[in-house]
Amino acid sequence: MSKNYKFKLKEIPYPIDGLEPYIDAATIDLHHNKHHQAYVDNLNKALDNYPEYQDWSLEKLLTDINELPDKLRIEVEKHGGGVHNHDVYFAGMSIGNNEPKGKLLEAINEEFGSIDEFKDKLKKAAAGIFGSGYAFLVKDKDNKLSIIQTSNQHSPLSFGLTPIIALDVWEHSYYLKFQNKRADYIDNFIKVINWDAALDRYLA
Ligand SMILES: [Fe+2]
Repeated sequence: MSKNYKFKLKEIPYPIDGLEPYIDAATIDLHHNKHHQAYVDNLNKALDNYPEYQDWSLEKLLTDINELPDKLRIEVEKHGGGVHNHDVYFAGMSIGNNEPKGKLLEAINEEFGSIDEFKDKLKKAAAGIFGSGYAFLVKDKDNKLSIIQTSNQHSPLSFGLTPIIALDVWEHSYYLKFQNKRADYIDNFIKVINWDAALDRYLA
């Protein structure tokens, strides 16, 4: 029997108010316990009728998405992407561990010139997304870093890229506290990037 299906909502590695005052408790509660949970539930619902894919890991479903039958592919794109993107997003924030370090810091300096230039590019990418989507720091198969913008819940895994940092700019991630001020939310997100988690994802 499957070791993945049914998928469960991953717990966030901090209390619901653990990112205050940068990201507020009410937003984390709604975002994680309602939105993230809904992606998990809808992914499980989509897989109900496809037992032959129920032993695939979430990463495999997203990486090998073009091997799926059309109807399932569309659901995995939306809801599987929604689960994985939020897994990376929520585990990628913390109070503490907020200084880049190690091999990831070296790679960022090499690719972007400095950490400040990297942050500036990430901010611009996130601010420039029209509608709902994400800015990601990703690595390719040769460990080369880049910043990409995605729309909706497309996973970088489906483009052969590994997400290192996920910056969710769907309105549900900031509207309660920041209303229309997406740039203020982005500034606050950058302050709570969990660089230990990012380093682990880079080295994995
Ligand atoms: Fe979200």
